[in-house]
Amino acid sequence: MTRIAIILGSTRPGRNGEAVARWVHEIAAARDDADFELVDIAEYRLPHLDEAAPPSLGQYAHDHTKAWAEKIASFDGYVFVTPEYNHSTSGALKNAIDFLYGEWNNKAAGFVSYGSAGGTRAVEHLRLVMGELQVADVRNQVALSLFTDFTDFATFTPAERHTVAVGALLDQVVAWSRALASLRTDVKEVVRRNTERVQSGGDFALFEELFADDFVDHTPQPGTTPDKDGVRVLYHALRSAFPDFSAKIHWQAVEGDVVTTYKTYSGTHRGEFLGLAPTGEHVEFETVDAMRVRDGKITEHWGVANLYSVLQQLGALPVGAER
Ligand SMILES: Cc1cc2nc3c(=O)[nH]c(=O)nc-3n(C[C@H](O)[C@H](O)[C@H](O)COP(=O)(O)O)c2cc1C
Repeated sequence: MTRIAIILGSTRPGRNGEAVARWVHEIAAARDDADFELVDIAEYRLPHLDEAAPPSLGQYAHDHTKAWAEKIASFDGYVFVTPEYNHSTSGALKNAIDFLYGEWNNKAAGFVSYGSAGGTRAVEHLRLVMGELQVADVRNQVALSLFTDFTDFATFTPAERHTVAVGALLDQVVAWSRALASLRTDVKEVVRRNTERVQSGGDFALFEELFADDFVDHTPQPGTTPDKDGVRVLYHALRSAFPDFSAKIHWQAVEGDVVTTYKTYSGTHRGEFLGLAPTGEHVEFETVDAMRVRDGKITEHWGVANLYSVLQQLGALPVGAER
């Protein structure tokens, strides 16, 4: 599941930011397209940046940095809730951002700001910072006025329309966070490892690692269940019918987090397959399949295999003019 942090960017006692961040989190938590977590930078008690090595090296010496890095790395995208201090964001948020580098890269972000002019100048500064961090900042934003969305500048009473605006902001952050996931994981490589090391190499320990526990097979073979158990059964059945089973990948194409692979399976028929007793024949057949890879794991599968050709090669169907 896509994970989005709602980052509370002010640390001041009596801060207005807390009510704003809780409100954003409450709206987000009603959605089912991502998991949302409120992250309060104050809880990490970060001093002024005190790491000797540049953050881009990821060589963190201090426990507070390691804890902050682990938390930020665990998300696919962010919603920064920022005050406007002197026409910029808070020093505390900028400092917390500066502590890390790789943990932010190739993710998405959106902004909810507040101030006398809606905090928009803070967001403009943050957008420049995001560019350097390789964070894709979405267009939709929510600007809350100290005059109209707070009572007496201290009690948060947001206008109704902002709830809709938060939804629109989250739509973009979730969509971009998902789209960028394929940049952070080499999705083709995940599928290639399954094809070459699990299917061809029989590495079933790797199978357990690569397939998500809630994996769904949209095109299960007859007699197998449409889940991880079903694929495990199928892969074992293929390897016992064709002990030298191997798969050669011709090409792979990626769209978003879905990898399509065109490959040729081959092997010698030494065990029962599709109800046919072993023939000792060497068979080759083509397969095209699509696998969705999320968070480094295979979560869905759609596929077609040229089983008609296999049956022909095993003598179970008439050979057409082409063979
Ligand atoms: C140091 C400081 C500077 C501020 N500068 C601005 C400003 O430039 N523009 C603005 O609209 N509001 C400014 N404000 C008002 C804040 O936007 C307002 O106090 C807001 O509630 C601060 O967020 P917080 O309560 O979460 O700390 C400033 C407040 C502080 C404390």
